[in-house]
Amino acid sequence: MRESKRSQTEQQRKLREKEIYDHLKGLGDRNYYAWDQNLMAEIYSVRRPFHDNILTRYLKGKRVLMLGCGKGYGTKKLNLYAKQVTGIDISERMIKLARVSYPDPGTSFIIGDAENTPFEDNSFDVVYCKAILHHLNLPRVLKEIRRVLTPNGYLYVVDECGLLNPIAWIRRRFFPSEIHTPDERPFIPNQFRKILYRHGFHEIDFEYRFIISPVAPVLARVIPGVNLMPLVHFLLGVDKLLIGSPLKQLCWRIGGIYTVQP
Ligand SMILES: C[S@@+](CC[C@H](N)C(=O)[O-])C[C@H]1O[C@@H](n2cnc3c(N)ncnc32)[C@H](O)[C@@H]1O
Repeated sequence: MRESKRSQTEQQRKLREKEIYDHLKGLGDRNYYAWDQNLMAEIYSVRRPFHDNILTRYLKGKRVLMLGCGKGYGTKKLNLYAKQVTGIDISERMIKLARVSYPDPGTSFIIGDAENTPFEDNSFDVVYCKAILHHLNLPRVLKEIRRVLTPNGYLYVVDECGLLNPIAWIRRRFFPSEIHTPDERPFIPNQFRKILYRHGFHEIDFEYRFIISPVAPVLARVIPGVNLMPLVHFLLGVDKLLIGSPLKQLCWRIGGIYTVQP
């Protein structure tokens, strides 16, 4: 009885996610993320060396599965390196958009649940999860990832870990983006790392990202028309210092690459 109630609640959560992404308004334009995109791009550029290293070292020539691929943007760069890219997303609308926007040979998109995929055991060399794990039941999806990965496969994760970050909290509370959903739960970095370890994922490399730099896109909303790029550069420098201290647990995003332990 209790089990059937739990599964009903899980189904409702997935339906809510699907509904929200099936009906995003600002899709395809700059409002999709609701923030100043130039400032965001500058902030995000910090993660490029880590990402590029993973593409060349771990994804080159591999069969890659992207969970919660959204409108497919992330597959564009993957396609330049991987042998084959498969994107899966619960939102029909996202998958339709992805198919139209990224019709690369070697890339395919399917509608489906990341926690319960239709793929055979051991069918991918790499599973890539970008901004999706905090939308899911983590133990369940980790089990699914282990199932579809080959024994020597890799899990590449980029996710939101800003549960303790006051700026992330202010952003969500007062300037919510339409892609935020009521069921998503950002992690705390160390808690996230421990859960992955407990589920048999061995960390190869891990990066803490952004502590106070996300304040700039918030300010851009409050004081429009002011050039905040110098502030972004200053805040990214402060982030670097803070990430070298125990305050790194406040970081907003993380990136990590893992192998599966037997
Ligand atoms: C924050 S968006 C991230 C999209 C994409 N990974 C990116 O970074 O642009 C979260 C995505 O996860 C999808 N999603 C949510 N729950 C899912 C589930 N159970 N299975 C598959 N996709 C899911 C949503 O439809 C949405 O496209």
